[in-house]
Amino acid sequence: MDRFVKGFIIMSIVYLGLATILGILMLAHESLMPLKFVHSHLNLLGWVSMMIYGVGYHILPRFMGRLLYSPILGEVQFYLANVGIIGLIVFYTMNIYAPSGLYLSLTVASGVVEAISIFLFFYNMLRTLLPKVEQPH
Ligand code: HEM
Repeated sequence: MDRFVKGFIIMSIVYLGLATILGILMLAHESLMPLKFVHSHLNLLGWVSMMIYGVGYHILPRFMGRLLYSPILGEVQFYLANVGIIGLIVFYTMNIYAPSGLYLSLTVASGVVEAISIFLFFYNMLRTLLPKVEQPH
C-alpha cells in the first residue's frame, strides 16, 4: 500500500474521532452549536472523503488492471487535503469567536487549497480510469 494511501486512511479515522467528540460536545453545550460547520466538515471532508480517497486510490486502478496515473499527485493531494481541512476548521472557528477579515480570508484560502486537492483526485483518477485498454490483436 502506498504511503499516502495509508495516510488518507489513518487521517480519515482521526477526523472521525474528532468529529464525534465535537458532536457529543455540541449536544452537551448549546453554545458550541455555531461549530456545526466544523463538525460536518470534519465528518464529510475528513472521515468520509479521505476514506474514499484512500480506498479508491488503492482499489480503483486494480479493478481496471492498471497502475495509478500519478502516485506523486496522490502524495501532493494528501498534503493539500490535510492542510486545507485543518486551515478550514481552525480559521473558521477563530472567525466565529473573534471575527476578523484576516480569519475570514484565511478560511477562504484554506477552502481553495481543499478544492485544489479535490481536483487533483479528479484529474489523477480520471487519467487512470478513462484511457481505453489496448486490445490484443
Ligand atoms: C456520535 C456521532 C455524532 C454526533 C454526536 C453528532 C452530533 C451532531 C449535532 C449535535 C449536530 C447539530 C444538529 C443541529 O443542528 O441541531 C450535527 C450536525 C451534523 N452532523 Fe453530526 N453527529 C455525529 C456523527 C455524524 C456523522 C458520522 C456525519 C457524517 C458522516 C455527521 C454529519 C453531520 C452534518 C452534515 C450536520 C449538519 C446538519 C445540518 O446543518 O442540518 N454527523 N451532528
